[in-house]
Amino acid sequence: MKLFNDHFQNYKRYGIPKANLLIADIPYNVGINAYGSNPAWYVDGDRANGESALAGKEFFDTDKNFKLPEFMHFCSKMLCKERKGRNSSPCMIVFCEFWAQFELKKLAEQYGFRGCINLVFRKNFSAQVLKANMRVVGNAEYALLLYRDKLPKFNNNGKMIFNIMDWERDTKDDLYEKIHPTQKPVKLLEKLIEIFTDPGDVVVDPVAGSGSTLIAANNVGRKGFGFEIKKDFYEQACMWILKNETIKTEIKENGFSRTLMRIQKPEQEVLFPA
Ligand SMILES: C[S@@+](CC[C@H](N)C(=O)[O-])C[C@H]1O[C@@H](n2cnc3c(N)ncnc32)[C@H](O)[C@@H]1O
Repeated sequence: MKLFNDHFQNYKRYGIPKANLLIADIPYNVGINAYGSNPAWYVDGDRANGESALAGKEFFDTDKNFKLPEFMHFCSKMLCKERKGRNSSPCMIVFCEFWAQFELKKLAEQYGFRGCINLVFRKNFSAQVLKANMRVVGNAEYALLLYRDKLPKFNNNGKMIFNIMDWERDTKDDLYEKIHPTQKPVKLLEKLIEIFTDPGDVVVDPVAGSGSTLIAANNVGRKGFGFEIKKDFYEQACMWILKNETIKTEIKENGFSRTLMRIQKPEQEVLFPA
């Protein structure tokens, strides 16, 4: 598992293996209204407290420089070739804003990804609370499952896979760290990775943010690689990845993890001095 603090276009420098699955949560390009329907727009999420420092801000200054054709070109090079036979070909999952799906699908076709299945993730909450007076608020996230000509590998013990899935949130017990404003749940990523890859396969996230995809890939025995251009996210992601690896090693060697116990039950710290 390896995360690089670089633009994904520089992938050749790192000699990473071709991916069986690419997962990307591309920047939303929502400009200075990134928090427009999010409580974070106001101090403590309350309009009465006035606007917070996030009001009128973009998520990242890198958003406006994100070029979809560059991204698609990268994907077409990074994803391994189609395999002979059925149920073995690679694919990519691109999380994106609802309206961005249409442009993305068109562009993907130009780069050889002619197959497309839309995925919808149902949340049991909505971040659009400020729009509550509109009565209809968004509680879905969207992604496109893109592939070349052959259907991708689907591992679900022969059962159907629905295109609408529950958005299972991570909890503190899962060693969850909140690093990124658009962070995807590790549990959901694990589920997707298990469906579309086999153990030992390679998963690449070109816009890795918190490193959630790499953590998920590692948790389910796949090889994760990623790129994150912003140094502060990269550093926090590396720390989370390291903590996750330490816990797994401790469990493997001792049958339990002191690091995890300290996080889950800090009051018992005295029982497990460093
Ligand atoms: C929507 S966020 C991804 C969040 C991630 N899915 C998570 O769960 O934490 C997109 C990330 O891509 C990064 N990014 C933007 N352009 C990039 C580029 N050209 N190369 C690598 N990372 C990039 C941004 O800094 C941002 O952290």
